[in-house]
Amino acid sequence: MSMKDKKIVITGVAGFIGSNMAESLVKENEVIGVDNLSWGKRDNINSLLENKNFKFVKEDVNNTESLTKIIKGTDLVVHLSANPDVRLGYGNTDIDFKENAKATYSVLEAMRISDVRELIFSSSSTVYGIPSVMPTPENYGPLKPVSHYGASKLAAEGFIFSYSSMYNFKSSIFRFANVVGRKGTHGVIYDFINKLRKNSGFLEVLGDGTQSKSYIYVDDCIDAMTFLHGKDDGLFNIGTDGRTSVLDIAKFVIDKYSPGAKIKLMGGPNGGGWPGDIKIMSLDISKAKSYGWNYKLNSDDAIRKTVDELGAKA
Ligand SMILES: NC(=O)c1ccc[n+]([C@@H]2O[C@H](COP(=O)([O-])OP(=O)(O)OC[C@H]3O[C@@H](n4cnc5c(N)ncnc54)[C@H](O)[C@@H]3O)[C@@H](O)[C@H]2O)c1
Repeated sequence: MSMKDKKIVITGVAGFIGSNMAESLVKENEVIGVDNLSWGKRDNINSLLENKNFKFVKEDVNNTESLTKIIKGTDLVVHLSANPDVRLGYGNTDIDFKENAKATYSVLEAMRISDVRELIFSSSSTVYGIPSVMPTPENYGPLKPVSHYGASKLAAEGFIFSYSSMYNFKSSIFRFANVVGRKGTHGVIYDFINKLRKNSGFLEVLGDGTQSKSYIYVDDCIDAMTFLHGKDDGLFNIGTDGRTSVLDIAKFVIDKYSPGAKIKLMGGPNGGGWPGDIKIMSLDISKAKSYGWNYKLNSDDAIRKTVDELGAKA
C-alpha cells in the first residue's frame, strides 16, 4: 500500500520509533503527531516542528473525544504510543492496562467515530510468552504472555481484530523484536551507557548474562511497517534472524566507552533480568520476507551502530 500524499496521525510521535517514523513519513505525506510527553521528548521532534508538513498536538490518547477531533479527515493512524518499559508493570500493575490496552481501545473508538479506517499498530514479541517453537512464527499458539506488557499488547491486538472485522478497518499489526537505534530512550544499550557514565569501573548486568534476543535497527523496522502495511492478513513478525546475548552487548559498550571495566552479573528470576523477562527470543520473519522485505543490519550490527549513536549523543 502506498504511503504517499496521505494525511497520517502518529501517536507516540515524541518517542523513539515515533519520531524516527515521522521523519521518514513527512517527506511524502502530511503528518499530525500526538504525544502526551510522558516518556517522549520535545527534543526528538524539534527539527520536525519547522516542517510545513508536520503538526504536533500535545494530548493523551486516552482522551477519546479530543483524539476523535484530531484524526477526523485523515487517512491513516500509526499507533505507537505506549508504556514501553516491560519492567515497570511488575510494581505498577495498571500502567500497561491503561497505556497499552485501554489506550488502543481509545484510538480504535476515535477511528470508528471519525470514520478513519486504516491502522498500523506496534505490537511485540512478548505476546508469545515463553514459546516452545523458535524462531516463533505468527501462527504460534496458544499465546500466554508472561508480563502485563505482553498481556496488554495481546489485548490491544484482540480489539484491533474485532474492530477491523466489525467496522471494516484495514489494520496491520507488527510484532517487533527489540528495536534499537538513534533517539532510543530506554532499553539495555541505553541503560549500560548510563550506568558506565555513573561508574566507569564496573557494569552491573541484570540476569545471568546469557539472555539472548533478536535486535533490529529502527530504520529497518520503519521500512517494514511502510512496506508491509496492507499486505496479507496484516499480521507480521519484524526482527532479524540472529540473536545477541546481553553479555555481548555489555562487551560492545565497555570496549567502546570504558575499556577494562568489570562486568558484575546481578542474577534474576530464572537467569532473566526481571520478572516477566523472556530469556531467549527469536522471531520467524519468513512471512515478511516472502513479500520482499528484508533487514539491512543484522542483530550484532544493529547493536554496534546503536552503541555508537547513543553514546555520541551526550
Ligand atoms: N522499542 C522497542 O524495542 C519495542 C519493541 C516492541 C514494541 N515496541 C512498541 O513500539 C511502540 C513505540 O515504542 P518506543 O520504543 O518508541 O517507545 P517510546 O517510549 O520511546 O515512545 C512511546 C511514546 O508514547 C508516548 N505516550 C505514552 N503514553 C501516551 C498517552 N497516553 N498519550 C499520548 N502519548 C503517550 C510517550 O510519551 C512516548 O513518546 C510502543 O508501542 C512499544 O510498545 C517497541
